[in-house]
Amino acid sequence: MSTIIAFKDVHKYFGKKKVLRGISFEIEEGSVAVVMGPSGTGKSTVIKLMVGLIKPTKGKVIVEGMDVGSLDQEGLLELRKKIGFAFQFGALFDSMTIYDNVAFPLREHTTLSKKEIDHEVKKAIELVGLKPDEVLHLYPDELSGGMQKRAAIARTIILKPDIILYDEPTSGLDPIASDLISRLIVKLQRELGTTSVVISHDIKESFKIADQMIMLYDGKVLAAREPEFFRKTDNPIIRKFIDGIAEL
Ligand SMILES: Nc1ncnc2c1ncn2[C@@H]1O[C@H](COP(=O)(O)OP(=O)(O)OP(=O)(O)O)[C@@H](O)[C@H]1O
Ligand SMILES: [Mg+2]
Repeated sequence: MSTIIAFKDVHKYFGKKKVLRGISFEIEEGSVAVVMGPSGTGKSTVIKLMVGLIKPTKGKVIVEGMDVGSLDQEGLLELRKKIGFAFQFGALFDSMTIYDNVAFPLREHTTLSKKEIDHEVKKAIELVGLKPDEVLHLYPDELSGGMQKRAAIARTIILKPDIILYDEPTSGLDPIASDLISRLIVKLQRELGTTSVVISHDIKESFKIADQMIMLYDGKVLAAREPEFFRKTDNPIIRKFIDGIAEL
């Protein structure tokens, strides 16, 4: 097992606001890590640091051996080819069909032929559990929320990234659609060996998929441990967070 992502004493300040105040953790290649914590604790910030959308104020973010904070433009492009990022809010281009949405990264980043693109698009759509004949000709607003999220994931996986970052992939979905997304994350991990980092408020779904859970609280990592630890711990803050949400 080798480490694919490491945060080493990472601080992130926005002006005077100290959002992250020295966080450290490691994520193993091919595993699923869930990042959790109250709203506004810096979960999305952690994911943005991983792709170099923002730089740490102090400390190091290492992804696939690269020091993300010190990469130049070319290095960042190289890094982003290895990482798929499913954003927290919306993702698909409204004015394009699902086909064009999913094909977009291939047309931008590869020289594949029309026929090869066709093949890859259909494969990705099937992998996320949608039927090519039913959805490819439709526009995003003609799909349900859960189907849109799956189509967005199809676009994210089409370049076969080593790492996929999911910012709240199940928010706004009913339990059945959430369960489908959770299964999909695990399926991609098994079938493509993808390392996944998932931000989630959904404790139940998190327990189903996580190899490691990273809990942020008040600018620090409260715990970065296996799910079993979180089930059993009597740390009052963790208990309140987990039981409080599970009871909703
Ligand atoms: N670019 C920015 N400029 C200034 N402040 C920012 C910026 N990005 C994030 N913040 C602040 O950092 C804090 C953490 O934001 P972040 O989006 O990481 O939280 P989060 O844990 O993802 O919350 P949520 O669960 O609501 O999505 C917030 O107080 C936010 O206002
Ligand atoms: Mg967020």
